Amino acid sequence: MIRSIDELQLTGKRVFLRADFNVPLDDARQVTDDTRIREVLPTLRRLLQLGGRVMVASHLGRPKGKPDPALSLEPAASKLSELLGKSFEVLFADDCVGDGVRKLVKELKDGQVVMLENLRFHKEEEANDVGFARELAENADVYVNDAFGTAHRAHASTVGMVPFVKEHAGGYLLRREMDFLGRLLRSPERPYVAVLGGAKVSDKIKVIESLLPRVNTLLVGGAMAYTFLAVQGVAVGKSRVETDKLDVARRALEAASRLGREVVLPIDHIVASEATAAAVPREVAERAIPAEMMGLDIGPRTRALYAEHLRAAKTILWNGPMGLFEIPAFAAGTRAIADTMARCREATTVVGGGDSAAAVHAFGLAEKMSHVSTGGGATLEFLEGKQLPGIKALEE
Ligand code: 3PG
Repeated sequence: MIRSIDELQLTGKRVFLRADFNVPLDDARQVTDDTRIREVLPTLRRLLQLGGRVMVASHLGRPKGKPDPALSLEPAASKLSELLGKSFEVLFADDCVGDGVRKLVKELKDGQVVMLENLRFHKEEEANDVGFARELAENADVYVNDAFGTAHRAHASTVGMVPFVKEHAGGYLLRREMDFLGRLLRSPERPYVAVLGGAKVSDKIKVIESLLPRVNTLLVGGAMAYTFLAVQGVAVGKSRVETDKLDVARRALEAASRLGREVVLPIDHIVASEATAAAVPREVAERAIPAEMMGLDIGPRTRALYAEHLRAAKTILWNGPMGLFEIPAFAAGTRAIADTMARCREATTVVGGGDSAAAVHAFGLAEKMSHVSTGGGATLEFLEGKQLPGIKALEE
């Protein structure tokens, strides 16, 4: 069992809050999607309300174990300050360990929090180095993990330091992610329909293998659908096909039929001669794609067919876009899945991280879903049925 932060007595205690503020930045180093920061606010506010002296720690990007000004967490600290509002002050520590941090935390006043600099500026973080883990732990009395997006990494701040801190607990976000995603693995209300998309079968094959015994129906879109169609002998023109993964796709289809699960593939397409914003989109009203064309989105009949399956579901999981949704001409399929899910008010609707989560936020539909996961790789590994090290560490 993972302790809830509500069980903690924090008055005057130093709290190390591991968050995942690995957020996208633009050229001006402004945070372009603050979802991961916003999602940690309830935990942070509660820790402060309980009287904790809180330091927020995270990684940003992959700086390869040395300081890189382009990957400083300062922009995330500014965004955090803006989101927390005027009654709080966010101080910034230019390192995540050492005397400087110790002094800042010791002198924290009510209403102040300190954001630590990028954990990955130290190579020992990703190496899960024991000495570094102890250094991180030295400044804390209580460890709280709300970094679901990093729970699949066995690093010093997610695993190594946990036994060196007296008390530990899981934040609200981490526990919510485990609750919604865990229900999909354990006890989904039926019918359970999963929609999988994205570019590659190889990225999703383990999720497919884990989902097949659990779902009633699997709807497939995105470029990986063309690999499945190719296996079935359907002409896919110039569409992106993983020729070295045809066997993998074939075995997945065979497993589905052995288990009596329905795998539904696109029955029509939006195609173009090239995958560019300037390309002229065309509808192809059948499964086969002409030789000189490539499939770039599911077509209107597929959208309607998938919507019909979704409307009958009691549990829906969606991971991966249906087409090249960054280009408006090829976004209708992805949009249709998001719209339909948003209208399935009787069902539990879970969006499984990555591009589909970004799409749902961009469409302004996140609030209409039961849960939009903040993880990318972590969500996929959780759905594969793996035990995530960051979660295991809190359970021990
Ligand atoms: C993510 O964005 O998926 C997490 O923050 C983990 O980042 P990583 O893949 O660089 O470990």
